[in-house]
Amino acid sequence: MEYRVREEVKKLGKYVSGKPIDEVKREYGISRVVKLASNENPLGTSDKVKKLMVDLVNEMNMYPDAASFDFKEALSNKLDINRNMIFCGAGSDSLINVICGVFLDKNDESIMAEITFPRYESNTKLMGAKAVKIPLKNNALDLEAMVEAINDKTKIIWFCNPNNPTGGIFTKSQLDRVLNRIPSSVIIVMDEAYGEYVTSEEYPNSLELLKYYPNMIILKTLSKAYGLASLRFGYGIANEKIVDYMNRVINAFDVNLFAQKAATVAIQDDEFLSKVKSFNEEQREFLYGEFEKIGLDFIKSQANFIMVNVNGDDKPIHEYLLKHGYIIRPGYLLDMPGWIRVSLGTNEQNLEFTNLLKEAIEERDRC
Ligand SMILES: Cc1ncc(COP(=O)(O)O)c(C=O)c1O
Repeated sequence: MEYRVREEVKKLGKYVSGKPIDEVKREYGISRVVKLASNENPLGTSDKVKKLMVDLVNEMNMYPDAASFDFKEALSNKLDINRNMIFCGAGSDSLINVICGVFLDKNDESIMAEITFPRYESNTKLMGAKAVKIPLKNNALDLEAMVEAINDKTKIIWFCNPNNPTGGIFTKSQLDRVLNRIPSSVIIVMDEAYGEYVTSEEYPNSLELLKYYPNMIILKTLSKAYGLASLRFGYGIANEKIVDYMNRVINAFDVNLFAQKAATVAIQDDEFLSKVKSFNEEQREFLYGEFEKIGLDFIKSQANFIMVNVNGDDKPIHEYLLKHGYIIRPGYLLDMPGWIRVSLGTNEQNLEFTNLLKEAIEERDRC
């Protein structure tokens, strides 16, 4: 039977996510598996959020608030912005899809780094538009070249900051140099999924920039620093007119009750967030030190993961780590063969991981 599937869908590749823990347990017959592959939070979730979840089981029969009112109220108070500038979805992944659905027609173009979060490309192609991919420069976004690539067909430019999977940021002054060259008809997406982890003072203040660039959309997620990956909650901040169009396309009940309530409390728990941030900074430094001891190059990260050069084929390294119960992201799946991306775990996990990494490299080089 030939299904009459859209050509765009036939051409789409499947998104390969970090391997689930249970799958590795089954495949390798081991009982203890640590996942450092999807940039999740090793400190878990705020206790305030956990407590709240229990009572909600009695409300599961009801649809959630389609407007996520409480969350928007809490965020607008926190950031001192108008509630109508906020839109919410089931993860920022869902919102990337909606942005493409709102803006991209067949044969339009959207510009992204060659190595970045892959969902910009797949969602662009889903709309029948062209993904224009600009090579990285020194393992970072080449903003100049990205802006140079703008033409009459360009509708969106994707700035992932910190960039996944490389982990570095572009600075405020680098951004300032290109922003005025982006026509107001092009939507600038600032994907700041890892923004909470940034410690550099050079990080652009996108909320401030939004006042001058009504064509800018800031994307955030509760999946990383707030430790709510499983609940699926992402949000965006943009000009009210953009938000109005977004809300026409976002599924009516995209954000479930648990996610809404959790996100509302999570963004107000500054104590948990600052604990996460300082722990992350400490573990980044710890891992840098360990990589240096082993003699491995790495890209300095402003996120909760690090890209490490494993000096040769990354496939056997990935396999060795899996066999020993550690899931990481091998570079061959990220278009960076010879590298691996590791999410920061607890201190014990990071130590055990680096010991295994050293063994894995020795074993590979022996063969
Ligand atoms: C850069 C970037 N943007 C967006 C997302 C999507 O996150 P979520 O859908 O969990 O909000 C991710 C997830 O890994 C990411 O790395």
